Amino acid sequence: MNSKAIITSALPYANGEIHLGHVASTYLPADVTTRFLRQKGVEAYYICASDDFGTPILIQSEKEGKTPEEYVEYWNKRDFEDFAAFNIKFDFFYKTSSLENRQFVQDVFKKLEQAGHIYENEIIQLYCNTDKKFLPDRYVIGTCPYCKANDQYSDLCEKCGRVPEEIENPHCSICGQTPVKEKTKHYFFKLKNFSDKLSQYLESNQNLQKDVKKYVQNWIKEGLTDWDITRDISWGVPIPVDGEKEKVFYGWFDNHLAYISSTIKFLNDNGKDGKKFWNDADIYHFIGKDIVYHHFLFLPAMRLGINEEYKLPDYIPTRGHLTLESKKISKSRNWYIGLKDFLKIFPSDYLRFYLVSINPYSQDDLNFNWDEFATKINSELIGNLGNLVNRALGFTVKSFNGIVPDPEKFDDMDKESEKMIHELASQLSVLMEENHLDRALKKILQFSAHFNQYFQHKEPWNNGAGTNSCVFLAVNAVRSLAIAIYPFLPESSQKIWAQLGLDGNVSTEMFDEISSITLKHGHKLGQVSPLFEKVEESVIEEQKSKLGGTS
Ligand code: 2FM
Ligand code: ZN
Repeated sequence: MNSKAIITSALPYANGEIHLGHVASTYLPADVTTRFLRQKGVEAYYICASDDFGTPILIQSEKEGKTPEEYVEYWNKRDFEDFAAFNIKFDFFYKTSSLENRQFVQDVFKKLEQAGHIYENEIIQLYCNTDKKFLPDRYVIGTCPYCKANDQYSDLCEKCGRVPEEIENPHCSICGQTPVKEKTKHYFFKLKNFSDKLSQYLESNQNLQKDVKKYVQNWIKEGLTDWDITRDISWGVPIPVDGEKEKVFYGWFDNHLAYISSTIKFLNDNGKDGKKFWNDADIYHFIGKDIVYHHFLFLPAMRLGINEEYKLPDYIPTRGHLTLESKKISKSRNWYIGLKDFLKIFPSDYLRFYLVSINPYSQDDLNFNWDEFATKINSELIGNLGNLVNRALGFTVKSFNGIVPDPEKFDDMDKESEKMIHELASQLSVLMEENHLDRALKKILQFSAHFNQYFQHKEPWNNGAGTNSCVFLAVNAVRSLAIAIYPFLPESSQKIWAQLGLDGNVSTEMFDEISSITLKHGHKLGQVSPLFEKVEESVIEEQKSKLGGTS
C-alpha cells in the first residue's frame, strides 16, 4: 500500500443543495475510504471544491439578483456545512473559481497549446432568437446521435453516457423553440490524438473497474472526437489569448483541474511540496457513473497532454445513481431528500449506515426506500450492533461493577470467538482495499451477530463456569467493533470508545488494533447508555408523505 494518498470526489455544482443522491455515490464512499486509509497509516487527504462555473449558475445568479461570485460563495459555504453535518470530513474544500485554479487552468491551456494539442475552429453554435443567447450544453435538448435517446442534453446523453458531437432535433431548453445556427470561433482539444495512450493507460491500470474500462475502451475503438473547450458566455475561466474577451473555458475543461490546484494549495500551505506529494501519492477520484466519459477520457488525456506533469488517477471508483422509492430523483417534482433536512430528523450515522449497506462497488443503481431504511436501522444497526454493545457493556456494569473480569481457561466456543477477533482486521482490510465497503460493513455485522449468539449461548447471567471468559471476550469484541466501524459510523464509534472507558479519539487507533485483545482484567468501563434510538413508523410515514408534494 502506498504511504500517501489524495482522495477527491466529483465536485458539486455551486448551484443548489446537496441531496441524498450526491452523497450516496461519491462523497460517502470517498469519506469512508479516506478514514480507512488513515487507520492503515496512510497519509491521506480528502480534497474537494465547489464547481462554480457554467451557464446554469450564471442564469440562476441573475435571477436572484446576485453576482455569480456572490451566488457561488453562498453555495460553497452551504455545501461545506451540509457535508460537515454528515461527517464528510474534507481536509480542504475549495472552489473552481479560486485564483489558484484560474491560473492553473490557464497555465495548463498554454502548455497544451504549445504542445500542439489545441486548435481553433469556426463552428456553428445554436442560438435562441427568443432568449437572445447562444445555447451551450444544458440549454439544448434533443436526440442523442449515438443511441437515439430523446430528451437528452446536448452535452451528455444520460442514456448511453456519451457526449454527443452534435445533438439531433435540437430545442432551446428555456423556451422550447428550435434554435438557429450562428457562427462562432471555438478552441478545440485534440482528444483524438490520445486514443492510443488512453487505451494503454486503461489497459495497464489494474485498479480500474473492469466493466467501466470495457465500455470506455469501446468508445475509443469507435473513434473519439475532438473536444470543444470554449463557451460564449461571461462566467468562466478567461481564455489566456489576446482579444478573447467574449469567451471562457467550458466548465469541464477547468473543473477537474481543481482537483490538482486545490490539493497543491492545501499541501503547500501546510508546508509540503504539493506537486511532489501528488506524484508520489495514490490518486483516487470517486465519481458517479454519469461522468465516466469526463474522468476516463478528458481528464487523463489532459494530464497526458502536459506530459504527465501530474500523475494520472490510480483509482476512479465509479458507482451508480440513487433512485428514491424506485423513481428517479428530481428536484422540480420534489422527488428528492435534501441532506440538511434528513439530518434534522435522523443522526448522520443512520444515513451513513444505510447508504453504505445498499451501495455495492459497481455501476448498478441503488434505491433509497424509507421502509427498508427503518428496517435496516432497527434490526441491523440497533438490533444487532447496538444490542451487542449494550448487552456486553451493560452486563459488565451490572454484574462486575464495570470492571473487565479475569477470564478462565477458554473452551472451544471461546476459542472460536477469540479467533474471530484475531481474523477480523485482515478480512476487513481486503474488502476495504478493494472498495467493497458494503461487504466490509456486512462482515462487521456478521461479527457482531456472532458475538450476540455467543453471549446468548453462554448465558453469563446464570454466573456459571465460563462467565468471566464470555464477558471478557464480548467486551473486547466491542472494542474491535468500535475501531472497525469508525470509517463508516464515526460518531457511534467514538461513543462506544468512551463507553468502553477508553481515552482519546478512536480515529487514531491503527486498523490492525481491531484484532488485538487489549482490554485486560481490571480495566474499568466508562458510562454505559443505549447508543441508538429506534426509528418510529410514524416518523417514516410522515417523511414518505412529503415526497412529491409541494413544499
Ligand atoms: O457532474 C457534476 O456534478 C460536476 N459538477 C462534477 C465535476 S467533477 C470534476 F470536477 F471533475
Ligand atoms: Zn445516447
